[in-house]
Amino acid sequence: MQRVPEPELMDEEDQAKAYAEADFSEPHDHFVSLFRSAFPDDTLAGAVLDLGCGSADVTVRFARAFPNCRIDGVDGAEAMLGFGRKAVRSAGLEQRIRLIRAYLPDATLPLTSYDAVISNSVLHHLADPMVLWASVKRWGKSGAPIFIMDLLRPESEEQLNELVRQYAADAPEVLKRDFSNSLRAAYRPDELRAQLEAAGLASFSVNIVSDRHLVVSGRLFSQETIASSR
Ligand SMILES: C[S@@+](CC[C@H](N)C(=O)[O-])C[C@H]1O[C@@H](n2cnc3c(N)ncnc32)[C@H](O)[C@@H]1O
Repeated sequence: MQRVPEPELMDEEDQAKAYAEADFSEPHDHFVSLFRSAFPDDTLAGAVLDLGCGSADVTVRFARAFPNCRIDGVDGAEAMLGFGRKAVRSAGLEQRIRLIRAYLPDATLPLTSYDAVISNSVLHHLADPMVLWASVKRWGKSGAPIFIMDLLRPESEEQLNELVRQYAADAPEVLKRDFSNSLRAAYRPDELRAQLEAAGLASFSVNIVSDRHLVVSGRLFSQETIASSR
């Protein structure tokens, strides 16, 4: 089915509330376990950047799973960050997680580079998807694990409706609307490979990891490092 873009920022109050109150434990725990499988030798420590952290559910789960890291979460929507700050406070993680309001690609962040870059469900929101890959290259250290999970655009309208029925039947209307719009705005693996090629990140892998998610992952090496290892 044809891709239909959706708005970038989630700054409507009712939209942010519905998202923050939804139970994303299954996909978000999956995010953490897939990161571990993608980087099994990594004893992750240091500074992690979460691009488009929203209400910080992934950020909090990731911080709990990797106790030696600190995380800077960045998002352009104050409505989402308000719920994120509450989540960080109630998890008692204020010492390890900072949430920053900034709009990609123009963000000014507290650090100039990070030991890992993660992002969940953000790529399909961006008006220009290359903003995400440019951000990964701008803020990831050489050798940093990069782990990006996003929705997978269904092949047909029937599949899309079935996913909404299966995963959002009892959700508030606004969440159902957003899930449906997000599935429509998501990318297919071949489109992601073209983006990675254009960004000079063709060494990254693209894997479908569920009926509605895919993951792009790899280590960030400079062009010189990639060229000399061939
Ligand atoms: C579907 S939410 C995902 C939130 C979080 N990563 C999660 O998995 O729960 C997408 C988030 O990306 C943010 N976003 C979209 N475009 C952005 C941009 N250009 N700069 C900063 N944040 C952006 C939205 O405001 C929203 O909070």
